[in-house]
Amino acid sequence: MFFDLSDQQKMIRSKARDFAEREVGPSAEQRDEEERFDRGLFDRMGELGLTGIPWPERYGGIGADYVSYVMAVEELSRVCASTGVMLSVHTSLVGWCLYTYGTEEQKQKYLEPIAQGKKLGAYSLTESSSGSDAKAMRTTATRDGSGWYILNGNKIFVTNGGEAEIYLVFAITDTQQRGKGYSAFIIEKGTEGFAFGKKEKKLGIRASPTLELIFDNCRVSEENLLGEEGEGFKIAMSALDGGRSGIAAQALGIAQGTLDATIAFAKERKEFGNLIGLRQAIAFKIADMANKIEAARLLTYQAAWRESIGVPYGKEAAFAKLFSSDTAVQVTIEALQIFGECGYTKAYSVERCMRDAKVTQIYEGTNEIQRLVISRMVLTD
Ligand code: CAA
Repeated sequence: MFFDLSDQQKMIRSKARDFAEREVGPSAEQRDEEERFDRGLFDRMGELGLTGIPWPERYGGIGADYVSYVMAVEELSRVCASTGVMLSVHTSLVGWCLYTYGTEEQKQKYLEPIAQGKKLGAYSLTESSSGSDAKAMRTTATRDGSGWYILNGNKIFVTNGGEAEIYLVFAITDTQQRGKGYSAFIIEKGTEGFAFGKKEKKLGIRASPTLELIFDNCRVSEENLLGEEGEGFKIAMSALDGGRSGIAAQALGIAQGTLDATIAFAKERKEFGNLIGLRQAIAFKIADMANKIEAARLLTYQAAWRESIGVPYGKEAAFAKLFSSDTAVQVTIEALQIFGECGYTKAYSVERCMRDAKVTQIYEGTNEIQRLVISRMVLTD
């Protein structure tokens, strides 16, 4: 086992950290307060090469690995979890599907602007009647016999919704085949019959837009079918494997940012005439937080490393997502306790981090689904 980072990985982490601290962090509180998505941050990420980290240069990426990518999500999430998830969905779900299943024409047309940060991506699987049970979706895509599909239905909880230009949409193409009757489509913003519905008001990641998508006789060319007809469920599930490493990295960043703030607070705050960091009750809490974060980091980097070297990583990504998200929730709750009343106010970022952490146990597969995925794998190993 070799734990050193390569020069390229160090360079990408340092670029992401510098950008996060200088350009993302300063506005994080205000964007959260105003529930405001800042497109300018995405544009800057494109200029810095952060929107196409794992994709080859011929498709507009920088040809680095998935470890570099999860480190970038971690660094962004250390200061702003909304910005972290924007990059995670854009890369792990949308870029990955286009790179893995797209035709050469689809890669040129859609992956390149995604990788260059000229277009933002969104992934839509969930519906009001299908969350964890993704197969229960109702959106249909029916062939019209002249090279087009007609989509009807609604998707909900779509991260980057409304702001993204490119949407991956999963729909039923054959109602007779439950497992194999789903297909994936690339749909551009502005396509006739495709509209945006309700924007969710959320507890956390409030600067990340979460929208409903509405398809009302939306005509999509068969050129925009991603993969084979009937391959949609496999595409959706395999994308979520890598997506879970991205969410693990987001949770890791939230936890690390919270720990950094807690250590700084413990070194300046005095109670009973002494710094609280010198009290064992606080110091041991901080030790436990640091310990869990280190374990979460190892699991997250391991899943990304396995993806980079081309060995199976679904189980490891589920391990990472389950452990990192639980860590983020535990760390942020414990940190708020250490900050006391100060943490309960908006004077420090810890209350925002606590609100942001919760969703990492929920989206891209609840932690109950992660246990289902893990148990199925370990019981059949
Ligand atoms: N990779 C490739 N193929 C996979 C796969 C994977 N990881 N997981 C399953 N499949 C394939 C199976 O091999 C199977 O194929 P065959 O029929 O050829 O054998 C097929 O998919 C069906 O698999 P299952 O029988 O295991 O399906 P299931 O219904 O029993 O369970 C599940 C699947 C694990 C519960 C799945 O539904 C799941 O992961 N649910 C959670 C969905 C989820 O994470 N939603 C979040 C969406 S995104 C989001 O959160 C919003 C956002 O914008 C961030």
